[in-house]
Amino acid sequence: MNPAGKMPWQVWRDRRGRISPLRTAALALLLLPVVKALIDAGAIVHGARPLNDLIHRAGFWALVFLGVTLAVTPFRRIARYGGLVDVRRMLGVGTFCYIAAHLALFIADQGYDLSKVIHEITHRVYLIIGAIAWLGLAALAATSTDGMVRRLGGLRWRRLHQAIYAIALLALIHYFQQTKADVTVPTFAASLFLWLMAYRLLAWWQGGGELSTVSLLALSVGVSLLTFAGEAIGIGIAFGVSPLRVLNSVFDFEAGIRPAGRCWRRDWSSALSISCAADGTSGRALLRLNREKAMATFVVAHGAWGAGWIWKKMHPLMSARGHRLITPTLTGLGERAHLASPAIDLDTHIADILGVLKFEDLKGINLIGHSYGGMVATGAADRARDRIAQLIYIDAFVPNDGESVFDVLPEATRAQRQSAASGNAEAWRIPPGPMPPDTPAEDRAWCDPLRVPQPLKTSSRS
Ligand code: HEM
Repeated sequence: MNPAGKMPWQVWRDRRGRISPLRTAALALLLLPVVKALIDAGAIVHGARPLNDLIHRAGFWALVFLGVTLAVTPFRRIARYGGLVDVRRMLGVGTFCYIAAHLALFIADQGYDLSKVIHEITHRVYLIIGAIAWLGLAALAATSTDGMVRRLGGLRWRRLHQAIYAIALLALIHYFQQTKADVTVPTFAASLFLWLMAYRLLAWWQGGGELSTVSLLALSVGVSLLTFAGEAIGIGIAFGVSPLRVLNSVFDFEAGIRPAGRCWRRDWSSALSISCAADGTSGRALLRLNREKAMATFVVAHGAWGAGWIWKKMHPLMSARGHRLITPTLTGLGERAHLASPAIDLDTHIADILGVLKFEDLKGINLIGHSYGGMVATGAADRARDRIAQLIYIDAFVPNDGESVFDVLPEATRAQRQSAASGNAEAWRIPPGPMPPDTPAEDRAWCDPLRVPQPLKTSSRS
């Protein structure tokens, strides 16, 4: 307890022990994502990967609060509200709580196996970058107590805490690298961070005083232009199109109101709004590109007993929309049934898909896993993350690490499939299961003769 009778955990009280509306509001803001997660609990628990959902939420909110913490200084100067500095440390420590939860959830997702956690982190660049940012935030949180500030002295403490700018940059890189498809939100976040950094640079360059309205406008226009250019170059590299073409589509207003419009409506400071406008228009560029499709490529991991042919009707529909649909047949099935053998397992099928990605040199693809193909797509996505923009499950198995089809199937279905295989003259194959009851008779007549037994080991590997 301090002399004012305030317990250290009573963060809503000011130094004199009085309830502070500003601190209470900051605390409420920090707790908002927890409340939102509780409201969404049903959807999270019944989602495909509850822990992964929570990892994303914690990471996202950590980044948001990092931005809010960095916005305190510019905002208190622009709004001439010096008292705001009272909640800066609280927001910073709140950011660290979310980032601590982010890592704890990641560890839980790896089954609390620390050697696996270290292996995962050290083998993925985006995780190495996240881990460096994490350690940096931990160091800043640990030196944020009154005692540490006194021990370090004001100047050294401020110098140390300037590391937050580098940490924010690493966090943004981590965010971009793990984003598999639409980069609108990461671009929006990068633009805001850029504005916050540029504000500080300009204020320092102008002698540390308040920035004039003209300077703020110039700053915002400059950040907007940089965001346009940065996004155009980024999309250009990712989609293999000319950045100039991306910039051309900036003035396509058909694509509707994007985040910029929303920023204006929120009535933020005009300076921030202009910087958001940059994102909106460049977001439109992305939308336009997505719509015109600098061509999306879909690769399908098909279901059990089927093969590439089963997707025949989808080819004209996809090409009519300008997409490329690739439907490889997994080993031992369809036209590759002559290769069937007892040795074929899930790894063989994952290798089939990885082979297609490699030899066709496919990048930025949408990988679809249908039914049993969900197992295959999950394994392939795990091993070729850098090639996959989006993983799509259609009525599919979504396994956790090390799980086989038999681990996820209901007991009765598993027993029925295993006994169907053992009743077979060749006990290593599962004869085709029934087609869904709502399959039209015409499709049943087409598919039934073409479906072939599925190698047993593709379901039983664990
Ligand atoms: C050891 C440190 C870290 C680990 C192991 C880690 C791990 C992860 C993982 C596994 C994902 C999801 C990726 C996927 O599903 O493909 C993720 C996403 C994310 N992480 Fe981290 N991370 C770390 C540090 C950080 C830090 C320091 C920040 C920022 C302050 C951060 C912010 C984010 C964000 C914003 C996302 C995306 C959230 C979204 O989808 O909206 N992470 N991280």
